[in-house]
Amino acid sequence: MPDYDVLVIGGGPGGYVAAIRAAQLGLSVACVDENPALGGTCLRVGCIPSKVLLESSERYEETLLGLGEHGIRVEGVRLDLAAMQKRRQKIVTILTKGIDGLFRKNGVTRLQGRARLAGAGAALVTGADGAETRVEAGSIILATGSRTADLPGVVVDGQRVLTSTETLELDAVPGHLVVIGAGFIGLELGSVWRRLGAKVTVLEYLDRILPGIDAEIAADAQKLLAKQGLVFRLGCRVTGARAEGDGAVVDIADGEPIACDRVLLSVGRRPNTDDIGLETVGLSADARGRIEVDAHLRTTVPGIYAIGDIIAGPMLAHKAEEEGVAVAETIATGVGHVDYDVMPAVCYTEPEVAAVGRTEEQLKEAGVPYRAGSFPFIANGRARSLGHTDGKVKILAHAETDRVLGIHIIGPHAGDLIAEAAVSMAFGASSEDIARTCHAHPTLAEVVKEAALAVDGRAIHI
Ligand code: NAI
Repeated sequence: MPDYDVLVIGGGPGGYVAAIRAAQLGLSVACVDENPALGGTCLRVGCIPSKVLLESSERYEETLLGLGEHGIRVEGVRLDLAAMQKRRQKIVTILTKGIDGLFRKNGVTRLQGRARLAGAGAALVTGADGAETRVEAGSIILATGSRTADLPGVVVDGQRVLTSTETLELDAVPGHLVVIGAGFIGLELGSVWRRLGAKVTVLEYLDRILPGIDAEIAADAQKLLAKQGLVFRLGCRVTGARAEGDGAVVDIADGEPIACDRVLLSVGRRPNTDDIGLETVGLSADARGRIEVDAHLRTTVPGIYAIGDIIAGPMLAHKAEEEGVAVAETIATGVGHVDYDVMPAVCYTEPEVAAVGRTEEQLKEAGVPYRAGSFPFIANGRARSLGHTDGKVKILAHAETDRVLGIHIIGPHAGDLIAEAAVSMAFGASSEDIARTCHAHPTLAEVVKEAALAVDGRAIHI
């Protein structure tokens, strides 16, 4: 008899959710993670701590620059970075402990150590003291996540040339931070340190920022972020970076080296699949480190499944969570499903950028006939009262059926507004469905309704 029905390797958003769902379905489950704190990159050094610092830094900047127009005079505002960082740590601790609580509530066994597959149906777990335990399970779910991808020539030392992890934990505001890569991580963390007083230069290889996001929305984001003071150098290929003297130097393909105080490397992430014993079951990862799975998240080895950042698709916590639920349901019931066509993405800059479904470029490339409708936040009463009027909602709907194919938002609370877009698309809504649904007034969500009306050329407030 195996020790457990299911062993989950990795306690991040994919793994811990899979463990809880499998336990809910009556299976005996263990989840192994080498880190004492559950929650993976997302909770410990990713989504959550970055959102905490984004919130704190936004409040700091608003207090300095934004309260005057509300008729609120403040004096003597100063940054207490140590207190800000303490709050970040506290929130992370509360949330990671929360997962321990959820495991207890659901009867999931928590194992601590580094796990490697050890042939079909088994894993070896090495504890911090070096002791090895063999664990056998009917099904094994690999959910080992990802780490910062290397860039040839860039020597990360954790002191001056940093990954996102150290950039979250800085105890002083750098004079000049150079960010390599204008993706989600670069723009979010670049925004944090710019707001707190750093000069921030973002070097991006492509001729645009935010690859994958609708080009019109990404161009709007670039304009707004540049207005705030982020310096963008597009079409700029970084060939190296290293600590030098008191700071660091970044080499670029066509131009002079750039001297700065700190460097953030954010050119993507690499799946953690090198040292998890794949060879012991005859599995291997592809050139990008990913494991191949079928539509049911099954690897080619019976009883072994893979989810989250180690398989194809966007490296997003909520994508991993959906897969965690689906894989547990597949194991317990034979049926589990993820709707990859309705997978929202949010970049938590100010304003936020959020998207679900297909971009205009993708529709053009696929030759899909569409109609587009946009509506700006500046024409919305709630946005005016918030003082956050930059941005727009853009809806793309099929030209013949009117089915919504993509919704793209840049603006206040875009990350929350995108939920309506995702639910609409999950139910196969037409733009007419959204346009004819009563939206409360005055709310930011009215901009979504007006954009849907605009698809048919009948927005009211513009
Ligand atoms: P990314 O893939 O989003 O962006 C990396 C950028 O680096 C790209 O624009 C790429 O063109 C550029 N680049 C690559 N090589 C370069 C070079 N030699 N010189 C200059 N630029 C170069 O990767 P990022 O930002 O590191 O994020 C990693 C993952 O984490 C992504 O999948 C992202 O979606 C996810 N993430 C999600 C967040 C969210 O949901 N809010 C927040 C942070 C990360």
